[in-house]
Amino acid sequence: MSHSLRQEFPLLESCVYVNSNSTGAIPRGAQTVLERYWDTLRSWRDDAWLGWHEELDAYVSTLERFIGATPGSVVTDANLSTLLSRVASCFAFRPHRNRVVITDREFPTIPFVWQAQQRLGAEVDIVGDGGPVIDQAELERRIDERTLIVCVPHASFSSGATLDLASLVRRAREVGALVIVDAFQSVGVMPLDVTALGVDFVLGGSHKWMCGVGTAFLYVRPELADGLEPTATGWQAGEHALSFQPATAWAPGAQRFAGGTPFPLTALVSRVGLDLLAGVGIEAIRAHSLTATGRVLERAAAAGIPVVSPAGPERGGVVCLDVPDGEAVKYRLAKRNLICSWRGYLRIGPHVYNTLDEIDEFMDALEQEWHR
Ligand SMILES: Cc1ncc(COP(=O)(O)O)c(C=O)c1O
Repeated sequence: MSHSLRQEFPLLESCVYVNSNSTGAIPRGAQTVLERYWDTLRSWRDDAWLGWHEELDAYVSTLERFIGATPGSVVTDANLSTLLSRVASCFAFRPHRNRVVITDREFPTIPFVWQAQQRLGAEVDIVGDGGPVIDQAELERRIDERTLIVCVPHASFSSGATLDLASLVRRAREVGALVIVDAFQSVGVMPLDVTALGVDFVLGGSHKWMCGVGTAFLYVRPELADGLEPTATGWQAGEHALSFQPATAWAPGAQRFAGGTPFPLTALVSRVGLDLLAGVGIEAIRAHSLTATGRVLERAAAAGIPVVSPAGPERGGVVCLDVPDGEAVKYRLAKRNLICSWRGYLRIGPHVYNTLDEIDEFMDALEQEWHR
């Protein structure tokens, strides 16, 4: 991790920030984008839309390269929930193929979206025993000929548990089920090659490990996209939307999962962080992440603080610790400008811009809390 990369993130000047699993730090280049946006608004001409559409397309192309997706296979929108609901709206849940298999380690939007489909005949099967780890073997056992969709996290938001996606996709293929991956907690910190994985849909967003704000994305496997017709839709999903004529056909590829008028600002800001990450390269980011989380694990073990995340090389970007009264601990640490988050466990998510000295400073303070 270079000193010059660190300089790009002003937030790091005021605190030890190990909270990128919740909200990533925003690079200083965002300020120029915001000022340019204001210039566009205050001297408004309708042609600005054309420029914005081009910039949105450029953001999507960068994102596609970042996750190994082919051109035209990614679309963006305001949040993951909106995009997942559009995906869900493509399916008829027929009695013999109506199951949606999820885990009990999902971000709350996942069960909520799928349970809403129960009215249309979906049967939601939640795998898990309430523990922090996802039992991959049990998950794969539960996928059978009745399974229409498997919708799982690449890395869990609450425990940091990860899944072997390649193995999961193989099992789903055996029985003809589709795989949807919520990669919000992995993209930007763990390598993800959607084409190599052969996964059907991948969703994620910019405001955590991608160092952006307020925009989410959906990848749809190209061979699948053209056969799908979401009922939750909008004019930008139609072919030649910018002709402003009633659409007679769907847009090709992932664009058919678009909705209404996009809000370009979030993609423009998010592009700055994405370019920085792409410049570092995901393999180098991952290597740094493993070193940084390795230091958290070492320090936790030495202090006797229980770790609930996987400790091996399959771990994600976050280390979750089982600290009694963790939420109060989080607030006390924040008062000392040591920033992490709490979701049932204390979550420590260092990113490419954190130093090992910062990890030590954070863990010194946490150790004091532990012995309090
Ligand atoms: C795994 C995961 N999925 C989804 C989300 C958010 O979904 P949405 O963009 O719909 O708010 C989060 C966190 O905000 C998350 O951690």
